[in-house]
Amino acid sequence: MATIIEKLRKIVEEAAIITEKDVMEPYLHDETPGLKGYAEAVVLPSSTDEVSQIMELANRELIAITPRGGGTGLSGGAVPQGGIVLSLEKLNRILDIDVANSVAVVEPGVVTGTLREEVEKLNLFYPPDPASLDSCTIGGNIAEDAGGAQTLKYGTTKNYVLGLEVVLPTGEVIFTGGKLMKNATGYELMHLFIGSEGTLGVVTKAILKLIPAPKYRVDLLIPFTKFENLSHTVLDILHKHGILPAALEFMEAKAIKASEQHTGEKLPFPEAKALLLVELDGNDSDLLAKQYEVIGEVALNNDAIDVLVAEDERRRADLWRARRVISEALKSTGEVAHEDVVVPRSKIPELLKYIEQLESTYGLPIAVYGHIGDGNLHVNILKRGIPDDVWQQRLPTLVHALYSKVVSVGGKISGEHGIGLAKRQYLSMSVSPEEIALMRNMKRMLDPNNILNPGKVLDLS
Ligand code: LAC
Ligand code: ZN
Repeated sequence: MATIIEKLRKIVEEAAIITEKDVMEPYLHDETPGLKGYAEAVVLPSSTDEVSQIMELANRELIAITPRGGGTGLSGGAVPQGGIVLSLEKLNRILDIDVANSVAVVEPGVVTGTLREEVEKLNLFYPPDPASLDSCTIGGNIAEDAGGAQTLKYGTTKNYVLGLEVVLPTGEVIFTGGKLMKNATGYELMHLFIGSEGTLGVVTKAILKLIPAPKYRVDLLIPFTKFENLSHTVLDILHKHGILPAALEFMEAKAIKASEQHTGEKLPFPEAKALLLVELDGNDSDLLAKQYEVIGEVALNNDAIDVLVAEDERRRADLWRARRVISEALKSTGEVAHEDVVVPRSKIPELLKYIEQLESTYGLPIAVYGHIGDGNLHVNILKRGIPDDVWQQRLPTLVHALYSKVVSVGGKISGEHGIGLAKRQYLSMSVSPEEIALMRNMKRMLDPNNILNPGKVLDLS
């Protein structure tokens, strides 16, 4: 390794290589509960050319490279298993906000929330909003095809990527797509890299689609005493009344409590078993008012306890803060197993009922929250006071039962957090052998020496 580090010094400046154990520590994990890796060095390139030279070197010398964005992932995609961590944090410039074409050209280390703020100054909108938007980066979002609350109306990251500069595992640089709203010129290579969890190439530049910013936003917080009533409200809003909110979010009581302890701020309706957070947006404030009236009626018809309407900016920000900290808050309450399942929307009532059954059958507390309008729920199994042996015995069976249920109703084991390391052993429960064979072939074609993020998603060893 000493000779590799010597060679790295010829590519990047001295200060861009970290080998001290304590300085490397933050680069050895992401936000996946209980997962920690190891590496020989961390390198922080400042240009596409440096990334390309590093990849060439790694490919020649057969050194594993783990690309890293903001380190907020929840499946271990950025957790190194030896070799070198390639942090894209220095490539953090917004290169251009091209208003005439409604696109932004950015480097991968740009923080998602920063991009959203910058484009908003020009009345433009970049919708993907992962809960970690204050620290996650565009490169990581592309690698994971990150979603977020507004996926319901606006789609995930892949719906906003128009072009990518990518360094291949062998060091070549390609540019796919462009400032184009459509492109039917050959295979769509760009989409190979989006959601590939940093295993097929390293994104060094992205062209992102922007849309006009909606003028008005209003949030509704609706408490329920039964999951069933809440899920029927969601389906009624979307399918009976044809209203498409920007977000329809679910928070169950244990998730709410963790959030309250974390922020020190109480949410209203302590008697609720679950809260539904609805965001409406648009340019017609009268229409929004009509829509929230309808949603309120639908909710009350489904036995909601009450309906709170939040129009002012501060109240709305508080509600979203409470929602966004849940993942972090639950982790700070002790050991937690974090699942990210997605089912066809119509199956939500069935899934929530099944989760309640799992909780009582296995005697493990489950805090559920997430993007109920997308059919995507974050299912957190909490260790709390459970003895180690009981936890170790029951948890894998519970997770297996949950995944089996999800798959049986046409769902998938990850909606937005990816497979990474944490879910790899379960991939074959959710993806057919033929698809896995295709994935393996794609990986081998692009990365013949298996040096880019090896062991993530697929085990090729
Ligand atoms: C959220 C993240 C964990 O929705 O996906 O809070
Ligand atoms: Zn989420």
